[in-house]
Amino acid sequence: MKQIILTGDRPTGRLHVGHYVGSLMERVALQNSGKYDEIYIMIADAQALTDNAEHPEKVRQNIKQVALDYLSCGIDPEKSNIFIQSRVPELTELSFYYMNLVTVSRVQRNPTVKAEIQQKGFETSVPLGFFCYPVSQAADITAFRATAVPAGEDQMPMLEQCKEIVHKFNEVYGETLTEPQIVLPSNKACLRLPGLDGKAKMSKSLGNCIYLSDDEETVRKKIMSMFTDPTHLKVSDPGHVEGNPVFIYLDAFCKPEYFPEFLPEYQSLDELKAHYTKGGLGDIKVKKFLNSVLQAELAPVRERRQAWEKRLPELTDILKEGCRVAREKAESTLADVRKAMRIDYFENGALLGE
Ligand code: TRP
Repeated sequence: MKQIILTGDRPTGRLHVGHYVGSLMERVALQNSGKYDEIYIMIADAQALTDNAEHPEKVRQNIKQVALDYLSCGIDPEKSNIFIQSRVPELTELSFYYMNLVTVSRVQRNPTVKAEIQQKGFETSVPLGFFCYPVSQAADITAFRATAVPAGEDQMPMLEQCKEIVHKFNEVYGETLTEPQIVLPSNKACLRLPGLDGKAKMSKSLGNCIYLSDDEETVRKKIMSMFTDPTHLKVSDPGHVEGNPVFIYLDAFCKPEYFPEFLPEYQSLDELKAHYTKGGLGDIKVKKFLNSVLQAELAPVRERRQAWEKRLPELTDILKEGCRVAREKAESTLADVRKAMRIDYFENGALLGE
């Protein structure tokens, strides 16, 4: 069986370092592993419109930003197809058929949908399109016959729902769709990076993000103002590393080689943590180290971004070509779906041919 990746992001804002460790880094590693026959990376503009119907301009602007974020992280257009969801209308048709295989109460129980409804204050006014987005996401995944979906932990309920749709479809209409697997980051700290303020999630609306496109000085200022352990008041006080965002970021980003380079008095993160826990290690020192680490990680991302910003016409061509290839693939799956559902009325040259 072909190994195929499909994943994507809503273009509602620039991507941040939470996206980077939670999914982008993994995508680049998978892309470069040589183990995948086809890779599709989708800018989910149609999904973004499900809760931004009144702000199409915002979605439009962010398509370019997200594409630049992808390229600057190392997504290579020679190996991965970057495309825009709404340019593949086959996805909408698939969603419409899948909606018949899912109950309203099942979507209501989807934990990600539930959390987002709360977070967006939609309690009594959920747009129907938004409510249906788990189904449209199943269409995204199955249209490309994806076997692997590298995504953040918050996408797990979506994958569960997608698998259910695959099973139901195959059971009702015969074996047609491919079952996907989610690929989560192996480093636990990367599963969900907290915000700068220690809140559970980095999120644009909470204003607690470090963006991939932030310049060096902005990143430094954000790190120096990060929340740490509120009980660690004096340098000599014993500190806590669990739940301390500075240490969680170090867990996510620090590599052994950064110690000799930036903090040679320590051998490892364990040693640094032990000193902090015992007392006698100040937050500023740890933050300065985190800043060096993050700047080192982000420098190549920044460089690639600057280079791509000078090549915007090429970026347009990349997206156009990505959309063309993606559409071809989705068309072929849709043909299989129509055939399985016996709604391929004009095939075989005869009206309603056998
Ligand atoms: N829901 C994803 C996000 O919030 C975007 C997305 C749309 C997606 N379709 C997908 C992710 C299919 C993985 C697979 O960014």
